[in-house]
Amino acid sequence: MNITVSGAGYVGLVSAVCLAQIGHDVTCTDVDDEKIRLLQSGRSPIYEAGLEALLRDNAARLCFTSDAKTAYEAADVIVIAVGTPENPDGSCDLRYVYAAADSIAQYARDGTIAAVKSTVPIGTCAKLQAYFDAHTGARRIRVASNPEFLSQGTAVRDTLHASRIVLGTADDETLAVLRKMVAPFGLPVVETDLCSAEMIKYASNSFLALKISFINEIANLCETVGADVTDVAEGMGFDARIGGQFLRAGVGYGGSCFPKDTKALYWLSAHEGQALKTVRAAIDVNESQKLLPLEKAHALCGDLRGKEVAVLGLAFKPGTDDVRDAPSLKVVAELLRSGAHVRAWDAAAADRFARAVAGDVRYCDTVHEALAGAALCIILTEWDAVRALTPEDFKNCMQTPLVIDGRNCFAPERFVGTGVTYESIGRRPVRNHTERTDDT
Ligand SMILES: NC(=O)c1ccc[n+]([C@@H]2O[C@H](COP(=O)([O-])OP(=O)(O)OC[C@H]3O[C@@H](n4cnc5c(N)ncnc54)[C@H](O)[C@@H]3O)[C@@H](O)[C@H]2O)c1
Repeated sequence: MNITVSGAGYVGLVSAVCLAQIGHDVTCTDVDDEKIRLLQSGRSPIYEAGLEALLRDNAARLCFTSDAKTAYEAADVIVIAVGTPENPDGSCDLRYVYAAADSIAQYARDGTIAAVKSTVPIGTCAKLQAYFDAHTGARRIRVASNPEFLSQGTAVRDTLHASRIVLGTADDETLAVLRKMVAPFGLPVVETDLCSAEMIKYASNSFLALKISFINEIANLCETVGADVTDVAEGMGFDARIGGQFLRAGVGYGGSCFPKDTKALYWLSAHEGQALKTVRAAIDVNESQKLLPLEKAHALCGDLRGKEVAVLGLAFKPGTDDVRDAPSLKVVAELLRSGAHVRAWDAAAADRFARAVAGDVRYCDTVHEALAGAALCIILTEWDAVRALTPEDFKNCMQTPLVIDGRNCFAPERFVGTGVTYESIGRRPVRNHTERTDDT
């Protein structure tokens, strides 16, 4: 089957490579010439485990072009995987989807299927169908919904071993072609209509966001009543009706999907007069959770003015250089506003962070360099280099060994008797450091 993937980002490129891996001839196209040039030379513009190896193995079945005519004119199926960012009001910005649709309408042949993999608001595929019908004359392009569920950092594995593939279609002929396209994956397939497929994606992401915000609120209450959220989450997770995943308390979710998708679903629900109160709560809890390290910092240190604060981790999660909507953006901005001197370290995201944040941040090459002389350490991403630290590292490097662990990287017991004050999320603090300041 001839497949064209529109968009060579995290989703598009991984999809293209995996579709080639199961035997299809795949063309991947992007408006970013630089990305296409890199891919034509055999290199990947993004880092994902296993991606470059699959690119190499499937070179004979993969073609990269920035020329829309070449990309679209011979395709049986066009997979649309362009970005769908957030508008200032929280709604979804569909300009890239329509820009791709424009080129597809111009060049695709009669009978081509446009399968929308980008996360788009419920009702978009129907509108796209109307758009094609109005712009393709005698040619008929059939729209389908094929949402993506991969996670950055494990994208290749998530695609080849997905929990399910969702196919939303409006007619049996389109469904038959898409069934054939995905059959070699050998994965469970959910077949439904266009709207339901679009809703499955938003409902799934919002539900996972809700789980995170729920456990974060429980964690905050654990601190007040003296319970330990790690034990609580473990005890809950054994129940198959609940499941153990996405129950890790911390400083909140970030990244390119959960924040924008929850806001887009909420915006749509409010627009339809059915405002989703649970999704609103997940969003609000997440925003306040991001500020928790600051509250803890003020409680531990009082006034932060002039204090050296080590921030370990800037990416929204380990294994990626993505800082979109990461808690670090809010935490560092607030630290700077409080007059603290920030010494930041990240294994991969420092450059991207520096481009996103104005302000005087000192970027360090190692975790130890960031800790050196610091009066406080705030952990925001659980990179291996952070997990490998010992209580002695904090004690020996820092001026005052106060640690706020926003990702619960360490067992609190490790800090007992070490002289390090260790605060985490939803667990009992270990306060065996005597020097306290100001109003605490
Ligand atoms: N990143 C994830 O973890 C993830 C997971 C599931 C779903 N999604 C969804 O998948 C979609 C893509 O996300 P992403 O993370 O891959 O985005 P991305 O920003 O990494 O990639 C999008 C790509 O589309 C290209 N593009 C823009 N306009 C184009 C056009 N007219 N023609 C061809 N290419 C064009 C851009 O240059 C860019 O390379 C979004 O809707 C996102 O919500 C993302």
